[in-house]
Amino acid sequence: MTGFSSRVEAVSISGIREVFEAAGDDAINLGLGQPDFPTPDHAREAAVEAIQSGAVDAYTSNKGTLELREAIAAKHERDNNLDVDPGDIIATSGGSEALHIALEAHVDAGQEVIFPDPGFVSYDALTHIAGGTPTPVGLRDDLTMAPETVEDAITDDTAVFVVNSPANPTGAVQSPEDMREFARIAEEHDVLCISDEVYEQQVFEGEHRSPAEFDDVGNVAVVNACSKAYSMTGWRLGWVTGATDRIERMLRVHQYAQACASAPAQYAAEAALLGPQEPVEEMRAAFEERRDILIDGFDEMGLECPTPKGAFYAMPNVPDGWVDEVIERGVVVVPGEAFGENGAGYARISYATDTETLHEAIDIMAEATAALE
Ligand SMILES: Cc1ncc(COP(=O)(O)O)c(C=O)c1O
Repeated sequence: MTGFSSRVEAVSISGIREVFEAAGDDAINLGLGQPDFPTPDHAREAAVEAIQSGAVDAYTSNKGTLELREAIAAKHERDNNLDVDPGDIIATSGGSEALHIALEAHVDAGQEVIFPDPGFVSYDALTHIAGGTPTPVGLRDDLTMAPETVEDAITDDTAVFVVNSPANPTGAVQSPEDMREFARIAEEHDVLCISDEVYEQQVFEGEHRSPAEFDDVGNVAVVNACSKAYSMTGWRLGWVTGATDRIERMLRVHQYAQACASAPAQYAAEAALLGPQEPVEEMRAAFEERRDILIDGFDEMGLECPTPKGAFYAMPNVPDGWVDEVIERGVVVVPGEAFGENGAGYARISYATDTETLHEAIDIMAEATAALE
């Protein structure tokens, strides 16, 4: 019988799914990693028009339509003060595919990929799938990743380090100084920095800066997506930008694995990026209000939680048995260890839910906390 590749045997189905399956049907789900808002109307309408006109019946260019890539370049100029050539962009099936092709194109068998622990689950899994060696590194007390920790972890075998700000699962936002340091480290050690910026629009304190701003040598690749910014997780539209030779290598993977991102999603994304940005600000304001409610709730429960400055997650320190106790009482939260060894003793709470439900969930979490005292 044909066996399975050791690369795929090294990964398992995400621990997050297991938690969802363990919860009852009427549970409050604070485990979800997606905004609870509709996709903006103008994005939906652009896709409908493109479908009806027949424009999406055929493959687009492998990199995505020129119009979409110009819209992405305009977004980088508007939001990041970055001059990106539309030729140096590949539209992908979500940020997920962008991470995948970036790692496939740069990681050789046995090479190391450094990423935050706790960190987004895909970094470990996609490193295995690329045949690389995951090298998770711990975080500061405020749950940001220290540039010196990354620098200390770099060896001759390091191919890539991943920066994620604002971060899943912590909500931490790296400072501009850190981002400058990450660019310096990528240059000095000649390794690729993949900057995962999918939560860029959800920043409540501080500001989002990209290490690409400080990169003079083409050693930073940026991964981004419409998924979280425009509540378009189901559309599957992200992108990667980087130096021309890197994009050419990533395109080799994308071309054969994907051909092109879904055409209707490309039209929707173009409209989302170029159209009114008010929905983005409305979501950001709603998330900030909910964050404050949640943090006050943890405070009253006596749970320590670094104040998340972005994304829509909080990561409180929780006593033994807390996650099970909370899930048993009907609120789904994700155990911190689903995001790496250093996540033990924490839980990830997503506040992508309305304030009424959030208050209800806070009451239940408070009861669970009291029951464990
Ligand atoms: C940090 C991070 N990067 C990338 C992604 C992938 O996003 P997408 O839905 O665009 O594939 C996610 C999704 O949860 C994420 O949390």
